Amino acid sequence: MKAENRLHFGVPIVEVQLDEVCERAADIAQLLLEIRAQQTGIQRSNQRGWHSQDDLFNHPAEPIKWLSEVIFQVAGKLIRHADHMPDNTELLLSSMWANINDAGAWNAPHVHLPCEWSGVLYIDVADIAPVSESGIHDGDILFLDPVPVGAPYRPATTVAYTPKVGTMYVFPSYLMHMVAPHFSDKPRISVAFNFRVAANIQRFAR
Ligand SMILES: [Fe+2]
Repeated sequence: MKAENRLHFGVPIVEVQLDEVCERAADIAQLLLEIRAQQTGIQRSNQRGWHSQDDLFNHPAEPIKWLSEVIFQVAGKLIRHADHMPDNTELLLSSMWANINDAGAWNAPHVHLPCEWSGVLYIDVADIAPVSESGIHDGDILFLDPVPVGAPYRPATTVAYTPKVGTMYVFPSYLMHMVAPHFSDKPRISVAFNFRVAANIQRFAR
């Protein structure tokens, strides 16, 4: 597994491409569309888009169980590495949900506090992002500098990524991000997740 750790703004944003997800992506996408047809979504940062319940890991379908395990194992490894944690550090997959954005849908800027680490895995996106003169493509995920002063003190305040099917990003939950709208007939489908550091939760007395 070859992961890239891009330190935009001095904040780790880890990117990895998962071929095993690409192989099963069509089946998973179909299943998530069926779940959308059966379940009422919830309102978070989604604007016009559908956000599933945030315990998708409890869904009994085998492809979802498999995806949950991939996220738990792969993102856990990336988080421990990026955060310089010992290999046996206990991490908890505290929430996992699907996002289905039809044409025009987008996600407003938000963070995932009080979780420690978050991420997203792309299940269905357009093969070729529409040309953009601004450097931001339809459906891009944008990360915003937590100290947004920009030049001449820091890099540009926003960085945009254009994912492919099977791309996973992992980043600290405090990092503000948003999703640009897209205008394709095909919905864009991703699965997002939050992790907690077990020791931070187990510290509570009651
Ligand atoms: Fe998010």
